[in-house]
Amino acid sequence: MVQMKSHFPLAALALLTVILVGPTAAADDGATVYEQYCAVCHGDKGDGQTRVRRGLSPPPRDFTTGLARKELSRERMITSVTHGRPGTAMMPFSGRLSDEEVATVVDHIRATFMQGEAEAARPVKLVLGEELYVRHCAVCHGDQGSGAMWTRSSLNPPPRDFSATSGVELTRERMITSVTHGRPGTAMMSFHRRLSGPEIEAVVDYVRTSFLGKSAAAAPSHPPLTVDMTQPFPKGLRGDVAKGGHFYQDNCATCHGEQGEGNGPRSSFISPKPRNFTAAEARQRLNRPALYAAVRDGLRGTVMPAWGKVLGDQELADVAEYVFVTFVHPHSEGKKKLDQP
Ligand code: HEC
Ligand code: HEC
Ligand code: HEC
Repeated sequence: MVQMKSHFPLAALALLTVILVGPTAAADDGATVYEQYCAVCHGDKGDGQTRVRRGLSPPPRDFTTGLARKELSRERMITSVTHGRPGTAMMPFSGRLSDEEVATVVDHIRATFMQGEAEAARPVKLVLGEELYVRHCAVCHGDQGSGAMWTRSSLNPPPRDFSATSGVELTRERMITSVTHGRPGTAMMSFHRRLSGPEIEAVVDYVRTSFLGKSAAAAPSHPPLTVDMTQPFPKGLRGDVAKGGHFYQDNCATCHGEQGEGNGPRSSFISPKPRNFTAAEARQRLNRPALYAAVRDGLRGTVMPAWGKVLGDQELADVAEYVFVTFVHPHSEGKKKLDQP
């Protein structure tokens, strides 16, 4: 069905137009309503794998996952369909469908896509997430999410300590991006070949519920995990602070702020926000090699550009050096010692 799909433009705008002015034939049973109004985004199989998917962020909901079953109560679905989900392509249908039609299509979705025959026997989301975590992540991130012991001496940067990180700082979206694509220049590898989208969501949700912010995190005098802040740049590079400073103020301050606090003029329009280099978390983690790699490779899923495309090694080291000694590690003693190792 929905042969519209094959020549459907990706642009969400065109999509909206078609839906808004589209056929309004009496759609009395759930399957018909679904086909007519929902399948174009959510798919014939309810898994959200449609051609328009690529153009939409967030993508249409996949109703077939354990996560969907867990999160989407009938009531919540009715609310979402009626009022839409602001800021997403999920539009309100209150003007187009009667309350009864909304309830019917929701029941259709629940009966058709959310039964999870095979998976029904399996415990939902968090159990799946835990299973995946133990299998794929614990080796580096540790049983408690604070980083396995061996990584502290062997990985640079080491894994983030989830228990000392808040869910505001490390958004779900960013985590999904990091797990999907990895973090270039670090041991955090990409999992998109090994895990499906719903599996990545499940493991991320497990990490979020089980670990994030769970330590007595407010004990900064005793950070559970610190990076060796004296590590030098790769390739024997030494950064020139003065040159880096000019470059920073011309090119980075607009997002990261003149004082490195992540509050430059452009920051209000950006999500996730530019990194605040003076935050405790950044100060624990962003040593020279980490800064160098981050500036060179950028951060996928954020507007942080990959400067390696336009800057040479030395220029990367210059600006990273400036960020390091000015914002991340400004204590004068440390600075002196680090400047003249
Ligand atoms: C233009 C594309 C589009 C169409 C058409 C569409 N949806 Fe959605 N839908 C989305 C997107 C995108 C999301 C994800 C929103 C989010 O992540 O918050 C979503 C999410 C949902 C959710 C989950 C909301 C929640 O609370 O998390 C439900 C339920 C849903 N859609 C039902 C429907 C039904 C029923 C229809 C047809 C009447 C429909 N959608 C039509 C794009 C669409
Ligand atoms: C080989 C070791 C290793 C494995 C295996 C690993 N990680 Fe990581 N992970 C890391 C390191 C190292 C970092 C820190 C990267 C950085 O500082 O940018 C990290 C960072 C992260 C981050 C934070 C990224 C960010 O945006 O700051 C998340 C989330 C994460 N890992 C989740 C996972 C999950 C989930 C798994 C399992 C599916 C996993 N990791 C497996 C080493 C690993
Ligand atoms: C268009 C806005 C923008 C510009 C310009 C920009 N950044 Fe970023 N930067 C970001 C965002 C957004 C993040 C991601 C923060 C997050 O993921 O929480 C980021 C993250 C970073 C990080 C942290 C990486 C990590 O692992 O946490 C570093 C270091 C960084 N930027 C340095 C720079 C430097 C140096 C420049 C200039 C050469 C620069 N940025 C220019 C927006 C920008």
